[in-house]
Amino acid sequence: MRQPLVIGNWKMNLSAEEGQSLVEGFRGRIPDGVECAICPTMLALPHLLGKGVMVGAQYCFWVDSGAYTSQVSATMLSEAGVSWCLVGHSETRGRFGKSDLPEGLLSHFHETDETCGLKVEACRRRDIRPVLCVGETISERNGGHTEKVIETQLSGGLAKAEGIGSEVVIAYEPVWAIGTGETCDSEEADRVCGFIRAWLRDHKPEMAENRILYGGSVKPENAAELFARPEIDGGLIGGASLNADDFAAILLAAA
Ligand code: PGA
Repeated sequence: MRQPLVIGNWKMNLSAEEGQSLVEGFRGRIPDGVECAICPTMLALPHLLGKGVMVGAQYCFWVDSGAYTSQVSATMLSEAGVSWCLVGHSETRGRFGKSDLPEGLLSHFHETDETCGLKVEACRRRDIRPVLCVGETISERNGGHTEKVIETQLSGGLAKAEGIGSEVVIAYEPVWAIGTGETCDSEEADRVCGFIRAWLRDHKPEMAENRILYGGSVKPENAAELFARPEIDGGLIGGASLNADDFAAILLAAA
């Protein structure tokens, strides 16, 4: 039995103060048996440690320290007490290193499958639990490439996880469902999560029972249906994690 997990990705929203009052608004409503973490901005992050909810970062760099302007290393995050880190969110990926794709923000931060692999390894070596995000764009889906895209993202992102993969979480986030209000149908989300699990069983058997989350326009209205599916172990929540009542309702749906 895999433990349900719900992670709030606050993206570039909320000051430290706003974040603290949001946490106060839902932390008493985390159901027993449900793991809950939030990923605030780097600036708010130190203010939210020790406030009754696990804290994650939205990105990290794999080298410990050095001339890498703008970056924060997994080592630094670990020293600060951070226990989770998103890796390869579609808003930080460069989609196979290409920067000319039409999906707006997709190409801004140039994360590749190879750098995702380095980040996953850096996190695990520092006792941070990485959440490797995978998912196809609408043109990839329409072209029938969903499985191929996800396979490539999994094999790159987990290339260095050999023997240290037990605490890696995979989040299936179809890019076309993120922040659009358009949720992936629960049956289809479950099918793709099942495809991910089958891939893990074949290629990373020690990770076959790791948790797989769904992310992309999860709301109180659709969370229970998504989380009831056998292959979906919880959610990565963007917009709805910015409201205490909505996030509490989603946490309850995961119980
Ligand atoms: P959303 O974002 O819930 O606002 O669609 C999900 C995510 O980006 O992780």
